[in-house]
Amino acid sequence: MKALLRRKSVRTYTGVPVTDDQRAQLLKAAYASPVAMGQYDSIVMTVVEKPELLAQIDAAAAKQFGREKMLYGAPMLIVLATKLKGDASDNSGYSNAATVIENLNLAAVELGLGACHIWGAIAALAEDDALKQALKIPEGFTPVGGLVVGDSADAYTKRDIPDNRIATEILD
Ligand SMILES: Cc1cc2nc3c(=O)[nH]c(=O)nc-3n(C[C@H](O)[C@H](O)[C@H](O)COP(=O)(O)O)c2cc1C
Repeated sequence: MKALLRRKSVRTYTGVPVTDDQRAQLLKAAYASPVAMGQYDSIVMTVVEKPELLAQIDAAAAKQFGREKMLYGAPMLIVLATKLKGDASDNSGYSNAATVIENLNLAAVELGLGACHIWGAIAALAEDDALKQALKIPEGFTPVGGLVVGDSADAYTKRDIPDNRIATEILD
């Protein structure tokens, strides 16, 4: 609950790289994630830290959305890709990615690293075959979500989360 109530989307980064130890902790959190029917081979994760690759993703996103810096200058982007069939079963692929991303996000909070769930730039990446290849995303996998992570001056403090933020029906 401590990490949950402090988590927020962080969109400013100092540029200080994520350490190897922090990266190992993040990956541990991802591997602890549940995945539909235990099919861990149905998703792949790509940790992007190379500045030139981050810049290329930023450029692809800027081209598609007409907005600069959609990765906010973060030193790390973790991309989740899944196999999509174009039918209702894709739900689990999207959910798997989101579940892993939330595990990563909460781990980032506990490590004192800023993080923000990213969909926009990933949608641009998904349409760029050359960039997908540069990221070594296997054939047949589509990037569906990601998380930027990095050192930030934006501190986490306990938030007041409105009780009615999500419409809720309690049938008791
Ligand atoms: C599926 C998903 C996609 C998101 N995509 C983006 C994104 O592309 N860029 C961004 O800045 N924030 C993105 N966000 C962050 C949301 O805007 C943010 O979580 C929401 O406004 C609530 O604010 P909070 O995270 O600070 O509580 C995304 C969040 C989710 C769950």
